[in-house]
Amino acid sequence: MSDNAKRTYESVLDLLPSELNPTPLVRLSHFFKTAKVYAKLEWLGPFGSVKDRVAANLVRDARERGVPIQNLVEPTSGNTGIGLALVSNALGYHFAATLSKAIPAEKRAALRLFGTELYELSDDLCPMPGAPEGAMSKAEELAERPGWTELNQYKNPANPEAHYRTTGPEVWRQTDGQITHFVASLGTCGTITGTGRYLKERNPEVKVIGVHPPTGHDIPGVRALRALALTDFFKPEEYDAVVEIPDEDSYATCHRLHIEESIIAGPSSGLALAGALREIPDEEGVVAVVVFPDNAFKYVSAFRRHLSQLFPPEDAPAPANPFAAHLEAAYRHAEHGPDVVTVAAAAQALDSGVPLVDVRNPEELAAAAIPGAVNVPLSKLSAGKTKGLPKDKEAEVLLICAAGVRSLYALLELKAMGYKNAKSVAGGVAAWSAAGLPLK
Ligand SMILES: Cc1ncc(COP(=O)(O)O)c(C=O)c1O
Repeated sequence: MSDNAKRTYESVLDLLPSELNPTPLVRLSHFFKTAKVYAKLEWLGPFGSVKDRVAANLVRDARERGVPIQNLVEPTSGNTGIGLALVSNALGYHFAATLSKAIPAEKRAALRLFGTELYELSDDLCPMPGAPEGAMSKAEELAERPGWTELNQYKNPANPEAHYRTTGPEVWRQTDGQITHFVASLGTCGTITGTGRYLKERNPEVKVIGVHPPTGHDIPGVRALRALALTDFFKPEEYDAVVEIPDEDSYATCHRLHIEESIIAGPSSGLALAGALREIPDEEGVVAVVVFPDNAFKYVSAFRRHLSQLFPPEDAPAPANPFAAHLEAAYRHAEHGPDVVTVAAAAQALDSGVPLVDVRNPEELAAAAIPGAVNVPLSKLSAGKTKGLPKDKEAEVLLICAAGVRSLYALLELKAMGYKNAKSVAGGVAAWSAAGLPLK
């Protein structure tokens, strides 16, 4: 039996948050001195985000309605996908996600790691309703195949219901019914609408505040007002305020959370808190809960863009070499060009006194070396250390490595240095050995 008090579980699914196993509330005492404002840390669920609840409830609801599930497909901005991938793994379903290429690489990598079949499309960060080539239409198309089901978090009432059944009761209990303000960022609006409805049923005086970014934003998981208006669960008439926060403030607030409160929140938590700072008075009697949907680690690439002062230029990933394709072409030409010789021709040349330069590393030579060859590792050659090469650039010189790849790069380097009669040995020491030529 799973036991929340001991935090010992029979299945990872038993770790999903519930009234008796809630995600933690942590007071934000640096941001609000008098008001009791708490962050609800949703990444402490089993799969790392607020969407764990939604994924589990979408599946529970479908099973209860008797929908047969073998293969699931879902349009996602990442977190619902991660939740559904892991719930599917636990229950033995196959899972495919359709999503935008603009979603952070970290989230797409996580989905691959968790076994998801990925369809990466041109779309908004949060799938855009009505985009003909977007994640939503692709999921619909894929779901038409026999044996496939789309649970559709954007239209399925089991999304807000997940929060009505779990987030709402948790928050009510964790604040002893004292909550005065509830704040959430807006994506599908499942969080705000489901939790808001529960809280207002318990106490109609609770203020429900939604926070969103501007058009053209860069906060994964949430939507600007225009896109919100197209979604089914955005119910502004049920909220007390809807606030827009520029990305700059969201990222700055997020970083303040890291360094002042030691809370490792992601960008949409910064957005929600920046909204709370605008709307909630720092005064006696206020008890507020702000949902923090997930943590920072999936968004390193986004933080680099928005907090560039923290990342020194030398820490930036090396830019792709625009000439790599040309080097590749030069290699292919050389491979089939006149300066590649067989091991038999090389052995004969070595016998008649032509120098043979082995460009492997010394450790490789220790295992099997050609008698009479000199060793100039390719790394040394590339660094300009040419000791061992003939002084006379008109002289013949043979190059060998393990299988004939490094010697071909060495050939290109020697030609560029002016060695007119350099040759690479095809197949390297492997071919030399297979031909029964002497090794020591
Ligand atoms: C990181 C993040 N923040 C905020 C949200 C918004 O939550 P909701 O869809 O319940 O409005 C999401 C939803 O996917 C999310 O992934």
